[in-house]
Amino acid sequence: MNTPWWKQAVVYQIYPRSFMDSNGDGIGDLRGITSRLDYLKKLGIDVIWLSPIYQSPNDDNGYDISDYRAIMTEFGTMEDFDELLAKAHEKGLKIVMDLVVNHTSDEHRWFAESRKGGEGPYRDYYIWRDGKEDGGLPNNWGACFGGPAWQFDQERGQYYLHLFSKKQPDLNWDHPAVRDDVFDMMNWWCEKGIDGFRMDVISMISKTKDMPDGEVKGLYGDYSPYCVHGPKVHDYLREMNRKVLSKYDLMTVGETAGVTPKDACLYAGADRGELNMVFQFEHVDVHGAYGKWNEKRMPLPQLKEILSRWQTELSGKAWNSLFWDNHDQPRAVSRFGDDRAPYRVLSAKALATCLHMMQGTPYIYQGEELGMTNYPFRGPEDFQDIESLHAYEEWCESGRVSHERFWPCIAAVSRDNARTPMQWDETDQAGFTKGTPWMPVNPNYKEINARAELADPDSVFYHYQKLIALRKQYPVIVHGTYRLLLPDSEELFVYERILGEEKLLVVCSFADHETEFQVPGEFVLGTCLISNYRDRPEKGVLRAYEAVVLHRQPGL
Ligand code: GLC
Ligand code: CA
Repeated sequence: MNTPWWKQAVVYQIYPRSFMDSNGDGIGDLRGITSRLDYLKKLGIDVIWLSPIYQSPNDDNGYDISDYRAIMTEFGTMEDFDELLAKAHEKGLKIVMDLVVNHTSDEHRWFAESRKGGEGPYRDYYIWRDGKEDGGLPNNWGACFGGPAWQFDQERGQYYLHLFSKKQPDLNWDHPAVRDDVFDMMNWWCEKGIDGFRMDVISMISKTKDMPDGEVKGLYGDYSPYCVHGPKVHDYLREMNRKVLSKYDLMTVGETAGVTPKDACLYAGADRGELNMVFQFEHVDVHGAYGKWNEKRMPLPQLKEILSRWQTELSGKAWNSLFWDNHDQPRAVSRFGDDRAPYRVLSAKALATCLHMMQGTPYIYQGEELGMTNYPFRGPEDFQDIESLHAYEEWCESGRVSHERFWPCIAAVSRDNARTPMQWDETDQAGFTKGTPWMPVNPNYKEINARAELADPDSVFYHYQKLIALRKQYPVIVHGTYRLLLPDSEELFVYERILGEEKLLVVCSFADHETEFQVPGEFVLGTCLISNYRDRPEKGVLRAYEAVVLHRQPGL
């Protein structure tokens, strides 16, 4: 079987601003990353996904790019990048870049030219519309980060579309020159030797020509029927594949909020010539009275139903990305496990086991391998994230919801939870910086940090290391089919993986107490590949957050 490398790979996501600061300005940087490659090598990952490192005014921390071919000044220079890439490659690590091409920064040269209007070559690079006859906005759409999705530009005398902040104008992919410029830029990075792209909100690049008002949800109309999985998105991805991706040996993953498994088979179907895989968000999507802002947990049977449906429906057709968290999500152990003693370590390991034994490419978000937790925010004054700040304004300061009701919701899921500095050791600022960090370090760094975990053979770190090693050793983890057991259990996540004669049983407790469980007969004599307790389950009982993987040898 000729398996592409990205099917056997484990990815580690770095949010550069918060990973490692090399020069004491409080902001993580490229040299900082280079200085920690040995740590990543030790963990055993194969691929680093770098959140954006391009020149940016940082309205959305680099997801608003003003020059795709330059490095953000705070992160270093192009020489620093070349060194990082060369050193990573020397160590056998690959680097995947974040590609943010649904929009640019309003400080990008293309936008500066486009807003001049007239007959210039950049005139149609963005999505411009006249206001309604009464001068009002072209339609009622709301932007992701609050406010309307249209901004009036004095210079051009028209409105431009921005599905995110007003400093992130959407590119007009229907204009061929835009596509050519984006593909040229991608080829330029590929020629440097990068190993792939994670494509930011790529499902939103094609918009319908007509842009009618959307159904009002909350304060504004919903743009998604007109902008998500738009009419030409697959044409554009196939064109990108022809003109760029197919020429190199790359890993490509599309961020595609709102996809179903059926859509995923279009974006990432094995024979479609588009992408290798997509990020879907169904399992992290819990909506309540205040939209995404809520502290409710998804009931375990529902979580299992979603993840299992993705496992079975993509099987043999497309490829899954596996993740619990990233730079836009709260910390996995706080959201799905229990971040309080004595369960933090156990539940972080159980979550890791549960995800890493599935089919797909696992993504580890920086600090997840240490069981890093959400941050104890005291109030909105502690936020930096544009989305959280705007949401607080729109829901609370507007008087729609009281602080008392809203605060626990936003504190639980704010993206800033994921963005506090990486906890390297027990020294000041967790060893992240010698200066003042741009985001405060989580006060629990003396207990939770890489140095302490590297010194403890029972740490979350070594559990991840072992899971990664198992994936390399047992083809059933990469290729096996998947079958969920006990779908209705509210405490246990149990599934089998099967490849020919080989079978794995994965049993993970999501409960903070003992649960009844009988190991099925065929696994009683199987080997235990990994466990978060010292001995294997006995007497029909699983302990709190116990997670084991049992392997039935062929012939048994
Ligand atoms: C993606 C990114 C997120 C960013 C947004 C706009 O969802 O992951 O961090 O804010 O796109 O680029
Ligand atoms: Ca720095």
